[in-house]
Amino acid sequence: MPLLLLRVIAVGCALICFGVLASAQERTLGNVGSVEKKRNGVSVTLASRAVADISFFNRDTVRVRVAPSGKFEPDQSYAVVGTPDPSLKVEIKSDKKFSTLSAPGGARVTFSHEPFRLVILDSAGRVVLEEDGTRLSRFSRETGEIEASFRREPTEVYFGLGEKALPLSRHNHVVTMWNTDVYRYKVGQDPLYQAIPFFIGLKDGRAFGVFFDNTWRTFFDLGKTYEKRFTFGAPGGELNYYVFTGGDDRSPANILRDYSTLTGRAPMPPVWALGFHQSRFSYTPDAKVREVAEQFRKNRLPLDAIHFDIDYMDGFRVFTWDKKTFPEPAKLITDLRMQGIKAVVIVDPAVKVDEKYPLYSEGVAGGHFLEPRGRVWPGEAAFPDFTNPKTRAWFGAQYKGFLSDGVAGFWNDMNEPSSFIPDDTLKKEPATADHPERTLPLSTKHVGDGIAGDHARYHNVYGMQMARSSREGLLALNPNERPFVLTRAGYAGIQRYAAVWSGDNTASWDHLRLTIPLLTNLSVSGVPFIGADVGGFTGSPSAELFARWLQAGSLTPFFRAHSDRGFGPHEPYGFGDKFTEINRATIEFRYLLLPYLIACFEEHQATGAPVMRPLWYACPTDPQAILNDSQFLLGRDLLVAPVMEEGATKVGVYFPKGDTWIDWHSGSVYEGGTSAQVDAPLERLPVFVRLGATIPTLSPIQSTDEIPTAKKGSVKAVMKNGKAVLVAE
Ligand code: GLC
Repeated sequence: MPLLLLRVIAVGCALICFGVLASAQERTLGNVGSVEKKRNGVSVTLASRAVADISFFNRDTVRVRVAPSGKFEPDQSYAVVGTPDPSLKVEIKSDKKFSTLSAPGGARVTFSHEPFRLVILDSAGRVVLEEDGTRLSRFSRETGEIEASFRREPTEVYFGLGEKALPLSRHNHVVTMWNTDVYRYKVGQDPLYQAIPFFIGLKDGRAFGVFFDNTWRTFFDLGKTYEKRFTFGAPGGELNYYVFTGGDDRSPANILRDYSTLTGRAPMPPVWALGFHQSRFSYTPDAKVREVAEQFRKNRLPLDAIHFDIDYMDGFRVFTWDKKTFPEPAKLITDLRMQGIKAVVIVDPAVKVDEKYPLYSEGVAGGHFLEPRGRVWPGEAAFPDFTNPKTRAWFGAQYKGFLSDGVAGFWNDMNEPSSFIPDDTLKKEPATADHPERTLPLSTKHVGDGIAGDHARYHNVYGMQMARSSREGLLALNPNERPFVLTRAGYAGIQRYAAVWSGDNTASWDHLRLTIPLLTNLSVSGVPFIGADVGGFTGSPSAELFARWLQAGSLTPFFRAHSDRGFGPHEPYGFGDKFTEINRATIEFRYLLLPYLIACFEEHQATGAPVMRPLWYACPTDPQAILNDSQFLLGRDLLVAPVMEEGATKVGVYFPKGDTWIDWHSGSVYEGGTSAQVDAPLERLPVFVRLGATIPTLSPIQSTDEIPTAKKGSVKAVMKNGKAVLVAE
């Protein structure tokens, strides 16, 4: 059987195979030669000449690292920032046949010696992961490919793996991690823009997590090829993975606590970035931007940010203004600020090849660019090597001019990286605009923060390292302000640097429905500050679709309406008076809940809990909650059930077990574990409050600038005279 049998991308229903290896030389790790004790783990030599290190990161987290070559590389990761628990004292026992490692009160690992086969158990001694004896971990020295397989129960479901246009659970799918510029992606298409090789499995209500820290084009076959097995692998690098066993209660919350301890948590966003953002490709010239701001204020629509898409630049040269269309950017931005509106500008990675453009000549002189060049908006363009710390510092310092112009936020796009390709390549299979060659050649050489390597290895971290350069540059220039960086591409750990939006979606009901499985999975991949373009980027939404999408988006962590060029309105005032009023109420509701949203981000900081949560996160043992893909929780206390069907004025809602829920609008009470058809006229987003909760609120405001003077209050869900009621205070 070939080693990596399936590396596929699904485009609609069609599966296109590319890169099937028929390696005769694949081999398993073989029998154990020797077991050497190390601090909190062991180093194992194997008959295949591979070496394996097994260690504990903390009580409940095990790390497995295999170097097929027999020699480990320096232990460097773009994802990992946590350090192993120093107080841990792992007990190690080894006899002829087995070795066992146990963390007191925590997980246990045992492996047989002939052959080497791993079993990982939780603190109660239940098996969490067990290598599949019929397909043991393997590699090919000739091709560099590596792979690990574990037994699975056919009922096991999987969540996470970043941003996918797939159903809520990834079981029965093969997914690929390869950041791709997928203009107008389809429901079912894989991969998209983010590669986060981390998933949470759920079996019998008990959670576990697996993080495969490998930046190559990794794949995860989650019961698709064989229902009793899941497999992950890569075309290169080390077999380096972490298993989160979930502690005593095996809760999803514990998995995310430990994953976020390992890969970091999102910093608190600036409060204004939690307000509403309006964008379009592109508002130009400056008068258009002023008009948008005026429309918002005239229509009393709350707004905190306007995004400037690529046309503000001089010939798409990054860090410049087109002086013809934006002659006085600082004045424009000051005037916007007077109206409570911040400017967010797009900053793409590629620098126009133009000898007269100082940034380009400086980049050449400083050795900052990758070879070869590519083609993006400005034509021929040079890509900074963001895996070079000097280049990150150089690029990050360029934000100085924008900061002195008063720009508040930065939007890093095209950072998969995307490089346009000639039409004849596009005609080759697969004939799609998101052709896999729409990036740099795989042989492109990167500095790799001291471990030189090619693009096949560093492609997936390019966008993340660009976002890092932006955030670190902004903090260096202005240490007193929380930066706002938005990115399209990322890898595990991206949450430390930026918010993420889900790229070029479409103005359709299907894509509105996709936002919940897409965003909740990205959320449990450790990334809390997320959103999808409201209204759908390409295409013209009907007034109804826009209004419903605005409602659904209003309780997602990042809330922005955006549009491709040439399409109808995506502005909340663009659909006539009746809809302006409906849309105003929607955005006002978001602002009313801002204190609660801020508290959700604080909770993420403290515990790693997501802000936007799938139902299974809160109720992993409730079978009806687990695969619910039409509702989500905002923090612990709000249940959101957006209307996502054209013409619908009622919505079917499932109330998760264990709590009582009160309809925000009608006060009706629903017991957990029941379902109901709930009224949802066009002007209403169905939202429910958990009995016992106190939701902090604000009086209506036009922007977060008004928070200091806004009236603070709360809504409490309490029992009164034997009845559950909502009380506003
Ligand atoms: C990409 C982005 C989109 C942006 C456009 C122009 O398609 O995903 O949001 O508007 O480029 O910059």
